[in-house]
Amino acid sequence: MNTKPSARRGTFISFEGIDGSGKSTQIQRLANYLRAKGHDVVLTREPGGSDGAEEIRALVLQGNPDRWSAHTEILLFTAARRDHLERTILPALEAGKIVLCDRFADSTRMYQGLSRGDLRGIVDQLHSLMIGVEPDLTVLIDMDPAEGLGRAKARQGIEERFEDFGEGLQQDMRAGFLALAQEFKDRFHVIDGARGIDDVAADIARVIDAEID
Ligand code: ADP
Ligand code: TYD
Repeated sequence: MNTKPSARRGTFISFEGIDGSGKSTQIQRLANYLRAKGHDVVLTREPGGSDGAEEIRALVLQGNPDRWSAHTEILLFTAARRDHLERTILPALEAGKIVLCDRFADSTRMYQGLSRGDLRGIVDQLHSLMIGVEPDLTVLIDMDPAEGLGRAKARQGIEERFEDFGEGLQQDMRAGFLALAQEFKDRFHVIDGARGIDDVAADIARVIDAEID
């Protein structure tokens, strides 16, 4: 399957940020907002977003933090992404829809590329071999890791493998995401997430309105 941007007609928007920064809350709000304006929206997430990728999600997000090495994780997250891309994202874009994706390749650049040594080169090589697609627009919800982790832990779920790496990792991820926003200035929009849900949502709606009719 051709994953090149020329095959696309819709708009691909990703949300990124540390755990608990409010991505899931805000992406749902944005989906409601865009649907109310008459847009055809596909709301999806990573890891996951297709049957096979959801199965890989359980493998990577549950269990002990040392269950997989960083190298193996890169392969698993990329395998999940390829399936998600083939079965969910590209068909929706080819049908002219707006795809809202809760995390995408920038999360692999951060979590696998930074957290246990510098593996960014490997992440990027595998990305260009197997994925080759970037979002048209990326919303980065930035906030203090202590607050984000407090919110994430309050959910008390079973998908805590990465949250169990602790606040130090989240500090590195925050700095890494802000650096990534500089690296990909054309598509990144940084939003201050340490405010009420309505204020954050209003900022995001302004950014999106400026990009889509
Ligand atoms: P993420 O998807 O980035 O991990 P969530 O949207 O799941 O974040 O939010 C984590 C928790 O914080 C949820 O319980 C959510 O209801 C809460 N939350 C989200 N946004 C805010 C906000 N702006 N202020 C306070 N709590 C929030
Ligand atoms: P997510 O469900 O978005 O968690 P949260 O709502 O807590 O932000 O993502 C689950 C975890 O998966 C998150 O800790 C980040 C991690 N992750 C990676 O390590 N690499 C990746 O490529 C992706 C997409 C997620």
